[in-house]
Amino acid sequence: DAVEFTPAIVIGSGYGGAVAALRLGEAGIRTLVLEMGRLWNTSGPDGKVFCSTATPDRRSMWFRTRTEAPLATFLWLDVVNKDISPYPGVLDRVHYDHMSVYVGRGVGGGSLVNGGMAVTPLQSYFAEQFPTVDTAEMYRTYFPRARSMLGVNTVDPAWFESTEWYRFTRISRKHASNAGLKTTFVPNVYDFGYMQREAAGTATRSALAGEVIYGNNHGKRSLDQTYLASALGTGNVTIHTLERVKSISRAADGTYVLAVDRIDDTGTVVETKEYGCTYLFLGGGSVGTTELLVRARESGTLPALDAGVGTGWGTNGNVMLGRANHLWDTVGANQSTMPVMGIDDWANAANPVFAEIAPLPMGLEHWVSLYLAITKNPERASFSYDSATGAVKLGWSAAQSAVSVGMAKKLFDRINRANTTMYRYDLFGSGNKVFADDFTYHPLGGCVLGKATDDYGRVKGYSRLYVTDGSLVPGSIGVNPFVTITALAERTMARVLVEDTAP
Ligand code: FDA
Repeated sequence: DAVEFTPAIVIGSGYGGAVAALRLGEAGIRTLVLEMGRLWNTSGPDGKVFCSTATPDRRSMWFRTRTEAPLATFLWLDVVNKDISPYPGVLDRVHYDHMSVYVGRGVGGGSLVNGGMAVTPLQSYFAEQFPTVDTAEMYRTYFPRARSMLGVNTVDPAWFESTEWYRFTRISRKHASNAGLKTTFVPNVYDFGYMQREAAGTATRSALAGEVIYGNNHGKRSLDQTYLASALGTGNVTIHTLERVKSISRAADGTYVLAVDRIDDTGTVVETKEYGCTYLFLGGGSVGTTELLVRARESGTLPALDAGVGTGWGTNGNVMLGRANHLWDTVGANQSTMPVMGIDDWANAANPVFAEIAPLPMGLEHWVSLYLAITKNPERASFSYDSATGAVKLGWSAAQSAVSVGMAKKLFDRINRANTTMYRYDLFGSGNKVFADDFTYHPLGGCVLGKATDDYGRVKGYSRLYVTDGSLVPGSIGVNPFVTITALAERTMARVLVEDTAP
């Protein structure tokens, strides 16, 4: 079959891919975005595009027969997960030994399923993680640009203090403060004006109806409404969905050739295609991009890729846990799914932790305070290639997760002591597990900036090949990562469009 040629191709439509697509389109470069997930714009039989967390159906997860929610049980009961029929659903859980990685699938990538927390890292920690990047320029130019493009806003503090929907957050704040810990408001891309109308009963509920990890039908400014809408608006960008890039190679003339499977709703490959391009941008996310490049180097299609490709991967120190509150400290049956506050103990050099106060909306009072802790776990892992199966494996160990747990436990032991409370043992399966340390929402690294690439995401060993996504971040950023990923992609595109694409 003939190779379909486009000047630029972007793999993936998450944060890194969306920024690349918009800036290429604005520069007048015809660009094709290849996304393995669906375009989420069509209502199902219930009149909604996405299903809720309470009643998940086939739209919830990527080709599964049963959902795999982060919180597996309640009172040790298997009441959370449901049988579903296989379909290209919006949330995937990619399994490796000792670690699984949650990712979004669809036009918008992780923005479709995430909690919307839009946090700019501490400048000093960003500088520590990216010693070769001009930090002042990042905080002057690219972070503000990312926040404004993403539509970041903050909850009205007066409403926050009075609404039943954030009672769970106020209780956790009180308990942190009893332990002498600082809390901080966290911005979000969910439209808080819309949320207040939901609470008032004048808008259809989404964040206030338990919607989040399987998609929000309203309120959230996901990438399909921001960067990607603008990218399509340039007239130069096309998005192909349900097309999965399998391999990358290079033709004799230096252009890139992609082998792609187009799948249908059953996952059957209905067409194999070849695409060609001059400029190739990888935005498949930390595990998507790293798998493609590790496979390309090891299988010999891009043999000159640097040894740094496939290294420097981390979980952003993620650990999830629940605390059991006293009977008088009710968290409320009504909880917004969008987190707005974190316990900020990052400045504690002995044990830096930033813990998001997470919702657990079950429509009943359960006295659980839930958290997603981000710890400064220094452990990193590498990916390897199994030539027999063609699979790419991640070499993360249980001992590496234990480091995150140790750090989270120090902080939450302190909170429990100050409040004479204890952990919940019933949330993460039958084994009385307190700390969920076997999954991450924040996969980072694999093609680290300045190691696998130059200081602008240009992949070492090849020209006109770029990484723009979370694989550039060296395993940890200390806060929720998408604002950082977006800002770094903006910085890369500003440079590349000036230096690499001049006629
Ligand atoms: P991202 O994963 O967004 O996009 C990659 C895209 O590429 C996907 O659409 C994928 O389908 C596609 N793709 C991959 N391989 C491909 C291939 N071979 N061919 C074609 N397409 C391919 N962060 C934050 O800052 N605040 C928060 O509140 C949260 N909360 C949160 C909750 C949950 C449940 C999850 C899963 C994640 C979060 N995150 C978060 C993390 C955040 O969503 C994540 O860091 C970013 O989405 C990563 O952006 P990237 O651009 O790296 O890839």
